[in-house]
Amino acid sequence: MTNSVSTLPAWKHLGRLAQSVASISECAEDAVRNDRLTLHAAGIDADLRKQRLSNEVIDGLLDLAREVSLEDRRNALLRGDHVNTSEDRPAMHTALRTPAGAGLPEFEPHVQAALAAMSELAQKLSAGELRGATNRAITNVVHIGIGGSQLGPELAVRALPGTGRFNIQFVANIDGHAISTALANCDPERTAIIVVSKSFSTLETLRNAEAARAWFLERGFTIADIARHFFAISANVQEAARFGIPAENVFPMWDWVGGRYSVWSAVGLPIALACGPKAFADMLAGAHQMDQHFAQAPLAENLPILAALTGIWNSNFLGANNHAVLAYDERLALLPLYLQQLETESNGKSVRLDGQPVDVQTMPILWGGVGTTGQHAYHQLLHQGTRAFSADFIIAASPDHPLSDHHRWLQANALAQSQAMMIGDDQPQAEKRVPGNHPTTTLVLERLDAYHLGALLALYEHKVFCQGVIWGINSFDQWGVELGKRLAGPIYQQLGGTAALNQDASTQHLISRLRASQTNG
Ligand code: F6P
Repeated sequence: MTNSVSTLPAWKHLGRLAQSVASISECAEDAVRNDRLTLHAAGIDADLRKQRLSNEVIDGLLDLAREVSLEDRRNALLRGDHVNTSEDRPAMHTALRTPAGAGLPEFEPHVQAALAAMSELAQKLSAGELRGATNRAITNVVHIGIGGSQLGPELAVRALPGTGRFNIQFVANIDGHAISTALANCDPERTAIIVVSKSFSTLETLRNAEAARAWFLERGFTIADIARHFFAISANVQEAARFGIPAENVFPMWDWVGGRYSVWSAVGLPIALACGPKAFADMLAGAHQMDQHFAQAPLAENLPILAALTGIWNSNFLGANNHAVLAYDERLALLPLYLQQLETESNGKSVRLDGQPVDVQTMPILWGGVGTTGQHAYHQLLHQGTRAFSADFIIAASPDHPLSDHHRWLQANALAQSQAMMIGDDQPQAEKRVPGNHPTTTLVLERLDAYHLGALLALYEHKVFCQGVIWGINSFDQWGVELGKRLAGPIYQQLGGTAALNQDASTQHLISRLRASQTNG
């Protein structure tokens, strides 16, 4: 597609429909429409009936999908075409979860070899077969990585039941509190450090890895001992080696998997360690099942496609400039952050594939939290604020604790919130009025286990891809993050007093202010 999506007949038609579309409650009186909005894929039941979608709008959205050749583009993604055009690469995260024997020959051997090596390491560390330099079993794992090299594994480790074999900590931030707190909890004889960085050049990860190495060496260990305690997951084996991690301790990442799509690779090592290799395999299986659905389900029944189209409708036509992920599951506390990175780093773009500026809005702001605690904080804004928004509710049908009454209350609250967002409350007193008519989707997972978590994350990955296709942007690069990285270098020098100040007035003032404290302290 070279022209903007806004020139397409379906887009224009949707624009006209948006002027007069019925309220959600009115739309929901139509049984045929309700059936069309009840979808099922890979163990996830999706209820889109609380969306502001009439039959006509659904038809218009499906026409839009056809007009952007969404199915052809999906096929191109899945067969390994170079869909990441600015970096001239495929985006083959789906290859990471394709079972042995069913994958593309170009990718499968790499994937299977890495999976086998990673499972072997997890097994040997767990069994105490692989020990530290002083022959003590490893019990602590410090995972050092940021963004896509951290959020996925940390989300899964927090969400899924652990074996209790390891104390796993995640360190992402350059804020020294993070690494020093993590290391303070560790006995170096029993600690493995996993440095995860696709590029092995990310500031935060390198500084934290260096701090961990210094901490290790200061405690009487030698450079040779690093091989018994430090592991890396990276596409840059050379840099990892320069750091001191031998090639046999480096597990691969590849340039054909984006960082934010990499939880399915060796980046997921902490999941295999914390929850066991089977849990990691189950996660891959759930994601693969969603891939199969995405690849094969007809357009109108295809959950990732419907989720993407619904998001386009809400943000581009109904004016929802923000999307809330409301996970009614304490274990999914990191899900909004994970999706924030996945969706906003992928689709927070303003230039089309043909280099022209977009003339439609792209990714809305994504935020969220867990219910019910959010109800006592920002739900006030959702019910009575002035902003249009959309939301996803996520619920597990069955809990993994014995407090069934708690779970029923949790579910009752999730359903009550989405209902309130739909129907509102027409109180006579203006201050008490709740307008409602806010579009939401509810995703029900039978359980929050590894399989369903895998399916859920894959669902969002495919949604992101489809929205990128519709907006005509590249979902797989992230050039926008580079500027801040470039600017930080000179400011760092100036904060240290080793370079002359030549900044804008505000930055210059702040540098001086912070330097004054350094001098005084
Ligand atoms: O700054 C953004 C980013 O490039 C993400 O896309 C990536 O997941 C993260 O940094 C970490 O990158 P790396 O794995 O190369 O350290």
